[in-house]
Amino acid sequence: MTTIRINDTVPGSRVLAFGDYRPARVVTNDDLAATVDTNDEWIRSRVGIVERRVAAEDETIVDMAAQAGGKALAASGLAPADIDLVIVATCSAETPMPSHAASVAHRLGIAAPGAYDLNAACAGFCYALAAADAAVRTGSARNALVIGAEKMSQWIDWSDRSTCIIFADGAGAAVVGAAAEPGVGPVAWGSDGGQSDRIRIGSRHEYIRQDGQAVFRWATTAVAPVALAACERAGVAPAELAAVVPHQANLRIIEAIARKVKAHNAVVADDIVRSGNTSGASIPIALSRMVERGDVPSGAPALLVGFGAGLAYAAQVIQIP
Ligand code: UT7
Repeated sequence: MTTIRINDTVPGSRVLAFGDYRPARVVTNDDLAATVDTNDEWIRSRVGIVERRVAAEDETIVDMAAQAGGKALAASGLAPADIDLVIVATCSAETPMPSHAASVAHRLGIAAPGAYDLNAACAGFCYALAAADAAVRTGSARNALVIGAEKMSQWIDWSDRSTCIIFADGAGAAVVGAAAEPGVGPVAWGSDGGQSDRIRIGSRHEYIRQDGQAVFRWATTAVAPVALAACERAGVAPAELAAVVPHQANLRIIEAIARKVKAHNAVVADDIVRSGNTSGASIPIALSRMVERGDVPSGAPALLVGFGAGLAYAAQVIQIP
């Protein structure tokens, strides 16, 4: 039988740098209360959002992804020619093809990389990071650019108070390269297609609809065990974690997951307060801003956990660059 060789395997991959882009336009709770029946107090206490960012009409997912990706690339110290793979995680694509990833790569001067989009909704960044980690470890890519980018605003019914107060726009990116020691742990992931109708955009003519209470119950019960499985697989005890970065869905969900994980020494990301729920972009935006502020030391372990439509979920432990 023919043997298939994998020649250039490396012991692990690690995140070399993060970058993020948030659109300039800030929309406050009071701004929304001027057009729908809601108020600042309800949104802060039920969801935790104070303000969110909304893209300009002509600002695209590719625009935002290229901004975030360019920042991550510059911070990594690598050149465009060093990148062999570009993955864009998005569930709010304005066009089904070509892939956003190919356009982003072209914008950034990355010539001929493997390029594709991936849709695992709000878990998308963790899925894409797992794919990039595998590509780097098996020698399929020397370095990968992984981006979560969303323009949720174009799929929102701005008269529906149950969704328009939650979702927002933005992009976050990570450059992943080879490492002598693993800096990205094994992913714990899965999905429950039987609950696909809980969060959905039914067709190109429809808006986002979600069964908020059911998703809330699922997120506060089913997601923490996935996060703990990721710690177990990485051999990192929750008490060793320096940061916990759940998908920024709702501050009450974030706090419930953090409580159950019992990461007593960790900073818990609360970027939702100022960035809103940017779906697949929320984890890399939160991480990028944490690192920029110096909230977590370089080399420290952070737990990422994404969850959302699908109902897809994924978690992994990474080393902060
Ligand atoms: O990122 C993808 C994953 N998505 C999630 O994880 C979302 C999970 N779900 C949630 O975060 C929450 O369920 C929501 C934020 C969507 C809603 O919060 P809730 O605490 O579950 O509120 P609710 O739907 O149970 O509504 C409570 C009350 C209702 O009024 P009555 O029937 O009690 O009189 C709603 O009509 O609040 C009302 N309400 C609002 N009031 C003011 C619903 N939306 C609003 C609003 N402003 N925007």
